[in-house]
Amino acid sequence: MSHRILITGASGYLGGSLLARWGSVALPPYDRLYALVRTDEQAQAVKRYSAEPLRFEVNDDAAVREAIVNNKITIVYYLVDALSAKPQASFIKALAEVKETSGIDVHFLHTTGAKIFSSHAGAPTDRPLYDTEEDLYDIQKAQRPPVPLMQEAIDANNAVIERGEALGVRTYIFAPCIVYGKGEGFGNPISIQTVAIIKAGLGARRVYSLDAGRPTWPVCHVIDNSTLYLELLRAILAGKNPGSGKHGYYLASSGSVAWADLYAAIARSLAKRGLVDDPTVEQASDEGLAQMAAALGYPKELVHWALGGECTFTAKHGEQIGWKPQYPPHHILEAADDEVELVLSSLGH
Ligand SMILES: NC(=O)c1ccc[n+]([C@@H]2O[C@H](COP(=O)([O-])OP(=O)(O)OC[C@H]3O[C@@H](n4cnc5c(N)ncnc54)[C@H](OP(=O)(O)O)[C@@H]3O)[C@@H](O)[C@H]2O)c1
Repeated sequence: MSHRILITGASGYLGGSLLARWGSVALPPYDRLYALVRTDEQAQAVKRYSAEPLRFEVNDDAAVREAIVNNKITIVYYLVDALSAKPQASFIKALAEVKETSGIDVHFLHTTGAKIFSSHAGAPTDRPLYDTEEDLYDIQKAQRPPVPLMQEAIDANNAVIERGEALGVRTYIFAPCIVYGKGEGFGNPISIQTVAIIKAGLGARRVYSLDAGRPTWPVCHVIDNSTLYLELLRAILAGKNPGSGKHGYYLASSGSVAWADLYAAIARSLAKRGLVDDPTVEQASDEGLAQMAAALGYPKELVHWALGGECTFTAKHGEQIGWKPQYPPHHILEAADDEVELVLSSLGH
């Protein structure tokens, strides 16, 4: 029996882009590709990529078991929610059952985020934090996040690894960062953090910074993000045993940029369109912060979490399995005007 793969989040920015790239790479043979959907339109759309639609509720343990076990699925790519760990536990349990009856190795990939390895989550930021570090699991276990909602996301990463180890399921913690570029899928074409900077800038009619100094954050073009998902899959299908469990962290990033440079590029682009009153970036006043919060629909305390902070998480693991990003980190600055155009048109601005 060869592998049967399920991808989730296919109508989303990352999952849709992944599915759209599927046919562009030569993967080792596998049996079937399934995609989790929630509507008839999504079911039709995934068929265009030769994926068989499956419809079930991820929060229903019995429904997850039925879908995975009945379809003999052996690889699950989870791209739905970085925060909670409940559905992931159901998938891992069901995969273990498939392994027991089929004897084939089973794999679960959890999509987390670089934020869970940042200052907001209490990760070290005084040095590069490599995704290949021997004790990254212990580092995550010891993190005490200054932003309380990050605890659940840290726990989700740890729980995935622990459950996988306990049940003999190989797990991977895949970390996207600031992803940019037009989504290639049939659903959501825009990302998260660039969108937040633009929305906050529109709301305050000025791009403000909330950090002192020049903290940095890893960045990645959406195509490179998709190709890392696929390179990992290629290694799994080829039986190469890519690092998993406590050694299965993969940051999708070609390098980092300073938020200040990203803000400046976006501010220039918004100013060119007359959408902010000043093309320069300045430190947010309390009033500016309140305007940003209103534009984002967040409490003021979460604005910095959404579009600032320090993350020294650094990618090495992808290159070790043969992944080569096409876009250098500074490309996000050169592409900022296109990103603004894309986000404005997607938001109907
Ligand atoms: N984009 C980034 O820059 C970035 C960076 C770091 C981490 N991440 C994380 O990566 C994950 C995917 O991000 P994204 O940008 O692709 O998000 P997105 O565009 O909002 O897509 C989310 C996907 O998950 C699906 N989904 C949500 N709840 C579901 C449920 N209960 N059952 C089944 N499907 C459900 C959505 O389906 P519907 O279309 O039916 O709603 C959609 O396909 C998220 O956890 C995000 O936090 C993203």
